[in-house]
Amino acid sequence: MTKPTILITGASTGIGATYADRFARRGHDLVLVARDEMRMKALADQLRSETGVAINILPADLTRADELAGVEARLRDDDRIGILVNNAGAGLGGRFIDQSADAITQLIALNTTSVARLASAVAPRLAARGDGAIINIGSVVGLAPELGMSVYGATKAFVLFLSQGLSLELGPQGVYVQAVLPAATRTELWGRAGADEATLPPMMDVNDLVDAALVGFDKREVVSIPPLHDDALWDAFNGARQAMLPGFGQTQPAPRYAA
Ligand SMILES: NC(=O)c1ccc[n+]([C@@H]2O[C@H](COP(=O)([O-])OP(=O)(O)OC[C@H]3O[C@@H](n4cnc5c(N)ncnc54)[C@H](OP(=O)(O)O)[C@@H]3O)[C@@H](O)[C@H]2O)c1
Repeated sequence: MTKPTILITGASTGIGATYADRFARRGHDLVLVARDEMRMKALADQLRSETGVAINILPADLTRADELAGVEARLRDDDRIGILVNNAGAGLGGRFIDQSADAITQLIALNTTSVARLASAVAPRLAARGDGAIINIGSVVGLAPELGMSVYGATKAFVLFLSQGLSLELGPQGVYVQAVLPAATRTELWGRAGADEATLPPMMDVNDLVDAALVGFDKREVVSIPPLHDDALWDAFNGARQAMLPGFGQTQPAPRYAA
């Protein structure tokens, strides 16, 4: 059986380029999406010669509606594409009160709008044929308002929720959805977000991160958190959330809200 082609966003460097390397070595043809065409060409040339897979380059700025639409069309129309890796994303340095509304809008466009629109473009086709996968790259920051990256963390909380919801909706139709939650990983993201080198946290190697995430992918985990050693903590967290669900059906306010 032919292996599905995989479309990877943010494939010019970092986590996305590492996914491209790993999936090429597994024998998948690729479509690489990012803004930097030259970098993607160089990666594609190298991976083609090392693995023999076919690789297309689709340059796009995913914060621009017209260019995003081109990627959506490719996902809708190209039957060979069976896996989407929604990886493109950025950070935003500084405190909320110092971040401009425009920078916040750009971040939300890239980290959330493009992720949801690209999933929306491919999901109906995958569900109709009863297989395929969507990998969404979130972040542990989406679970940790304490880290002081409020807008970035909020976009990543969106990615986690979207993934969990889509897993419930699409899983029964044969489409596997995975959220990957890295913690600090050594890539260009930190420099691009203007982080101060001196204050950077300890980082995971990007190869270790992606290889671990792919173990989660192969196990069909819904949420993969490579840096979390004690997975009972995630189960307890998720269990506490689920224990609240029956309470949300109460029609009377809780006694503590009695006027
Ligand atoms: N590194 C970490 O510590 C860390 C931790 C948790 C989660 N993550 C998440 O992991 C994902 C990948 O990040 P990374 O660490 O690999 O960052 P990175 O090294 O900065 O790579 C980001 C990728 O996204 C692409 N990109 C950025 N803006 C884009 C745009 N407007 N349109 C299209 N592509 C765009 C970049 O390519 P071009 O510049 O060529 O467009 C690049 O390929 C992100 O979603 C990030 O939030 C990273």
